[in-house]
Amino acid sequence: MIVAPPRPGPRTAAAGPTETVEVALADRSYPIIIGRGVSTDSALIGTHMKPGRAALVTSEVVGALYLAPVCAALAAAGIEAVPVVLPDGEQHKNWQILNTVFDHLIAHRCDRRTPVIALGGGVIGDMAGFAAATWQRGVPFVQIPTTLLAQVDSSVGGKTAINHPQGKNMIGAFHQPGLVLADTALLDTLPDRELSAGLAEVIKYGLIRDTVFLDWLEPNLPKLLARDPAALAHAVRRSCEHKAEVVAADEREAGLRETLNLGHTFGHAIETGVGYGQWLHGEAVAAGTVLAAEMSARLGWLSESDVGRVRRLFSLAQLPVEAPAMPAARWLDLMGHDKKVRSGRIRLVLLQGLGNAVTTGDYDPAALEATLAGAAAHG
Ligand code: NAD
Ligand code: GLY
Repeated sequence: MIVAPPRPGPRTAAAGPTETVEVALADRSYPIIIGRGVSTDSALIGTHMKPGRAALVTSEVVGALYLAPVCAALAAAGIEAVPVVLPDGEQHKNWQILNTVFDHLIAHRCDRRTPVIALGGGVIGDMAGFAAATWQRGVPFVQIPTTLLAQVDSSVGGKTAINHPQGKNMIGAFHQPGLVLADTALLDTLPDRELSAGLAEVIKYGLIRDTVFLDWLEPNLPKLLARDPAALAHAVRRSCEHKAEVVAADEREAGLRETLNLGHTFGHAIETGVGYGQWLHGEAVAAGTVLAAEMSARLGWLSESDVGRVRRLFSLAQLPVEAPAMPAARWLDLMGHDKKVRSGRIRLVLLQGLGNAVTTGDYDPAALEATLAGAAAHG
């Protein structure tokens, strides 16, 4: 859907302290600027973006809330935004809707220097990013993530994609943004269920590489659910530091970056298996990570008490810890499409103790079958 530019709304400077995390990628390095009000701080925007035109991609839900103030701040920084508003939700992360973005870019004669700005959650970020990666073979890209999940994970690192009906994020490209503005004030309007979904990815960083963070998270999950600004700022910053470090070390996922996929092979199978948009991505990652922990325990790599801790963390974050019921053959079929598969072998991110993730296809298949049978029994 193509809409007329919105009426200008109020402009404010960042309402509190900001923090910057750098993604170090040589001449493609970029800042993640975190703080309340950064998405409407025209002076800040003006120091990071050139005056001119920009295409802005958002969703119906986010656009109704934030398109006017963000466009007004861009205008004050000398940037005329031409917005395109997409239908909301994972079920629209597909070719047909992506093509409406290209229709918009061509209608507005966007050229190789016209940046694409994503204003939304991970769905909008992934789609706008893929459009930016492919439009005229690649144009500048800016992320303004509006969900916790997008602020702690999807807006950073340059993975962009749309779904195939039989596989999550199957069609995409690596294309780094040049700027990420993580405005934590935007989380004030996020529905509780979406806030919890974002916490799944926050917990993930602790499980794969930071037990100190995990120890901080466990008692602070109630504060995070209550949107305590200091707790949220810490969780977003620490998560972005982890993501930035991993991406800088392994941008194209040759090894280390795969560990960010803890729980995702199971989780993507859930999202595709039950139908896109039924389970939120973070919910599927939570239940998928419990399965990864249970399988790690079956292999003797994780203690039962650690599996209990994993379940407890997700439960405290109001996330599901039981996967939906699916026959084992369906699980294996869906997991067989995972992007980590090599020569037909399903490779999984597993835990060799909390804080230590490994990616391997070298496991006893009986352990996976038993894990899936267990899931079918609970689900
Ligand atoms: P989402 O983009 O669907 O947003 C969730 C919902 O919240 C939507 O209905 C949206 O309109 C609404 N919303 C967004 N911001 C809001 C706000 N501030 N106030 C009120 N409502 C708001 O979902 P998500 O969880 O942000 O992202 C999930 C997607 O991200 C999945 O497609 C997943 O595959 C992808 N992802 C990508 C990466 C990556 O590295 N590229 C990493 C993790 C996840
Ligand atoms: N969210 C996983 C990654 O960016 O690699």
